[in-house]
Amino acid sequence: MLDLQKTSYTKFFRFNLRAQCILLLVCMVCSSPPEDPVKCSSQMSNCTITNSYGAFPDRTICRAAEVIYPTTEKELLAAVAKATMNKTKVKVVTKYSHSIPKLVCPDGEDGLLISTRYLNRTIEVNAPAMTITVESGITLKELIEQAANAGLALPYTPYWWGLTIGGLLGTGAHGSTLWGTGSAVHDYVVGIRIVTPAMPNEGYAKVRSLDNNSQPDMDAAKVSLGVLGVISQITLKLQPLFKRSMRYSAKDDSDLGGQVTIFGQQHEFADISWYPSQHKAVYRIDDRVPSNVSGSGVNDFIGFRSTLSVALALIRSSEESQESTSNANGKCINAKLTASTLMSTGFGYSNNGVVFIGYPIVGYQNRLQASGSCLDSFRDGHITACPWDPRVKGEFFHQTTISIGLSNVKYFIEDVQKLRDIEPKAFCGVELYNGILMRYVKASSAYLGKQEDGVDFDITYYRSKNPMTPRLYEDIIEELEQIALFKYGGLPHWGKNRNIAFDGVIKKYERARDFLKVKQKYDPMRLFSSEWTDQVLGVKGNVNIVKDGCALEGLCICSEDTHCAPDKGYVCRPGQVYKDARVCTRLDFHRKL
Ligand SMILES: Cc1cc2nc3c(=O)[nH]c(=O)nc-3n(C[C@H](O)[C@H](O)[C@H](O)COP(=O)(O)OP(=O)(O)OC[C@H]3O[C@@H](n4cnc5c(N)ncnc54)[C@H](O)[C@@H]3O)c2cc1C
Ligand SMILES: *[C@@H]1O[C@H](CO)[C@@H](O)[C@H](O)[C@H]1NC(C)=O
Ligand SMILES: *[C@@H]1O[C@H](CO)[C@@H](O)[C@H](O)[C@H]1NC(C)=O
Ligand SMILES: *[C@@H]1O[C@H](CO)[C@@H](O)[C@H](O)[C@H]1NC(C)=O
Ligand SMILES: *[C@@H]1O[C@H](CO)[C@@H](O)[C@H](O)[C@H]1NC(C)=O
Ligand SMILES: *[C@@H]1O[C@H](CO)[C@@H](O)[C@H](O)[C@H]1NC(C)=O
Repeated sequence: MLDLQKTSYTKFFRFNLRAQCILLLVCMVCSSPPEDPVKCSSQMSNCTITNSYGAFPDRTICRAAEVIYPTTEKELLAAVAKATMNKTKVKVVTKYSHSIPKLVCPDGEDGLLISTRYLNRTIEVNAPAMTITVESGITLKELIEQAANAGLALPYTPYWWGLTIGGLLGTGAHGSTLWGTGSAVHDYVVGIRIVTPAMPNEGYAKVRSLDNNSQPDMDAAKVSLGVLGVISQITLKLQPLFKRSMRYSAKDDSDLGGQVTIFGQQHEFADISWYPSQHKAVYRIDDRVPSNVSGSGVNDFIGFRSTLSVALALIRSSEESQESTSNANGKCINAKLTASTLMSTGFGYSNNGVVFIGYPIVGYQNRLQASGSCLDSFRDGHITACPWDPRVKGEFFHQTTISIGLSNVKYFIEDVQKLRDIEPKAFCGVELYNGILMRYVKASSAYLGKQEDGVDFDITYYRSKNPMTPRLYEDIIEELEQIALFKYGGLPHWGKNRNIAFDGVIKKYERARDFLKVKQKYDPMRLFSSEWTDQVLGVKGNVNIVKDGCALEGLCICSEDTHCAPDKGYVCRPGQVYKDARVCTRLDFHRKL
């Protein structure tokens, strides 16, 4: 009885929260900016390093002996020389460290971290040539602003301002388009200056200057996972600043598989948010317009705004309670409400920087492509924060982000629909995090870039604070992950995902050997390599961590019941649509066998 009361109370509360609080309680002038991911016990030595979520996939904490904050290329050169001389393992860390996998960890405990925090200047904007040269630690926000000041624009970028140019290139980050050169920022790189180890007679470190004729080096350096050296500067090819006009259109998802390629060809900045349990897909109809079309629209995406910590905690508590009581209906009600509220309030877009009146939103590229107002703000002692800030009780999630070649996208979508039809409520949890974001990506000449044109599926879902606690509909999302990776050979985003997404990943890259040749030339002592990069690059070992409960966190694919949570009724079984999948399923609950 008490439980029941509690559940309906939280349900009611959550209803209110999702509907109103997120929108009303968002504080636009105050917040706590994210903290430095590096913490040292004495000055700049004896340090720990984590990511912006405060948790790697395996939940370990990484250590390093020292962190250095170079402010010039010269200081950067000295830092790499010192590491080379001393044969110290090195990793580059950025201002916020947004990647989920353990890319930032040097091996052992006596490695060196080189931070790009103070390498954030704009070196040159060449308006006639339409290029910009920046230091690698500049944030996407600042880069977009600097380009716009000169009347120029990057046509496609990730949607979140907080990434650095060095980090987003390192992991192949992208926006969404099927047009022209495609949506990956690395395909607009025309110059790179990279500091690598060197021979003693060269001073132990040197700057290599690459342009678009420097092959094969450039195709390796454009997406490098940080293993080639430290990128000091980057030159990007830009376009004249332009305006866009966008609107969202919600449709039934029954023909999504058939529509997806056509839609990508029709609209330059197309993307799709898919809500499988609601049988709904929201299409972003978004194209360039002449600059005399009036409009001064601004994107301030609600999910990237400073949010009151109290609201974040309540939302999280309510999701935790729905998980612990297996309250799928509660999740579905909230998911519907979240989606319709976001849709009717324009997701945080405004027509003029102040209010959302309605679609279309017309505005300049630099105001529409990306956002992240929770980044810049005063310190307020965590009264507000970015929703995933680990210092407050808030969002904590897994992210499965995999791109599927265009020729397979239709079949993948149909498989997801089959899973949905077997378990109609299974995707409500994903819909609480804005559904499955589908974005277009194109084949790249970068060795570790996309191998073919495709669609990137970005799936965010609940992660328990306790690694041994299974999730509601655990099995369905695990099956989807394995369908994407193994049935359709999907490529995981290098900066997101759980370990199993990288199981055998390097075999999917035709020119991986060419990448490793450049690696050998730039860093023969393998100072920039780590256990993680050796595993994903197929040099040594494998990303799976087999232990009790490992499948719950995506550290392994289950092969025994103990990899799931048999004491909680979750056992290892084949998939329902994809029989080769092995997933943790709760027999009594989901499958009435
Ligand atoms: C809220 C949010 C939204 C996101 N949105 C998108 C999106 O829309 N599209 C998308 O594709 N991705 C997106 N991502 C993922 C993001 O692109 C990647 O996680 C990205 O790599 C993070 O960039 P970062 O600057 O934080 O780099 P980090 O995570 O700190 O670094 C990534 C890698 O690059 C290396 N590196 C960094 N700088 C250098 C350098 N100067 N020289 C050599 N190596 C370097 C690091 O060592 C590391 O190996 C998002 C992430 C978050 C948290
Ligand atoms: C390093 O820091 C840890 C705590 O983070 C501390 O326990 C340890 O004593 C420190 N070691 C040195 C050498 O300072
Ligand atoms: C080289 O490494 C040793 C041992 O790890 C350390 O004591 C020393 O300070 C390092 N020297 C430099 C120049 O970093
Ligand atoms: C560069 O970073 C420093 C330190 O974080 C900051 O104070 C400064 O405003 C930044 N400069 C630019 C141009 O972003
Ligand atoms: C290299 O970039 C320059 C400047 O953008 C461009 O003019 C040239 O055609 C490019 N060359 C190649 C080989 O892509
Ligand atoms: C914009 O300019 C073009 C010519 O440059 C003109 O044909 C068109 O009518 C103008 N549109 C608006 C909305 O003013």
